Amino acid sequence: MEQLYEQNTILDTAFKILKHDELSLEMKAYAKEHNIPIIDDSGLETVLQFLKLKKPKRILEIGSAIGYWATIISRHTNADVVTIEREVGNFEKACEYIAKSSVSDHITIYRADALKFDVSSLEGQVFDVIFIDAAKSAYQRFFEKFEPFLADDGLMISDNLLFHGHIFIDREDLSRNLRDLTRKIKTYSAWLAQHPNYETIFLPLGDGIAFSYRVLHKVGIDNGGIDDEQKA
Ligand SMILES: C[S@@+](CC[C@H](N)C(=O)[O-])C[C@H]1O[C@@H](n2cnc3c(N)ncnc32)[C@H](O)[C@@H]1O
Repeated sequence: MEQLYEQNTILDTAFKILKHDELSLEMKAYAKEHNIPIIDDSGLETVLQFLKLKKPKRILEIGSAIGYWATIISRHTNADVVTIEREVGNFEKACEYIAKSSVSDHITIYRADALKFDVSSLEGQVFDVIFIDAAKSAYQRFFEKFEPFLADDGLMISDNLLFHGHIFIDREDLSRNLRDLTRKIKTYSAWLAQHPNYETIFLPLGDGIAFSYRVLHKVGIDNGGIDDEQKA
């Protein structure tokens, strides 16, 4: 029954947007072989479905790994992607793959720890979407640091909020580090859910993805002298 359900999910039908090409399959195989965590197909499909509605022109990604998400997303949306990666091996591999991709002119990659990244390099830039997919312990700090670059109607996406299911069970056999990260991810989700300036939906797809839309507070809007009753 479960198998039947899996074969018939909406993500596995004609509505599917994600199309792999030779390069994305090569990257996927490389990530698997070298144990590099990248977004899975179900998570990618979910993001692509949202971006189909959002139609972003510029995207910022925190945590490039080998450039898998950035190249696939840019190829499907035609958006320009700026991405930041701190680990030298991943950064070099990402540069290699981005150069080989059909969207190399649309991707800018920085090698930096996003928490120490000098944001003056982003001065004057506005992003329609910011995708957070780096160190699980620092999601709130990434959010707060890069939020000023999000468009007023921008979308903040946070990945891995299910943390491979760890958030559901407090397992004592897990390492202290894993339990600590699990606690931090749960704290971040709770913080996000209560953020006064964002409306967030959490989807249990992929490894758990949150989509947070900025809430535009109606402060001081000039209604041109029309009272609320007239407007209704
Ligand atoms: C889950 S992987 C990113 C996968 C990628 N978004 C994808 O789906 O193709 C997380 C990456 O974030 C990087 N990372 C972790 N903390 C970071 C930080 N503070 N600044 C920049 N990169 C970071 C890691 O080195 C790792 O390559």
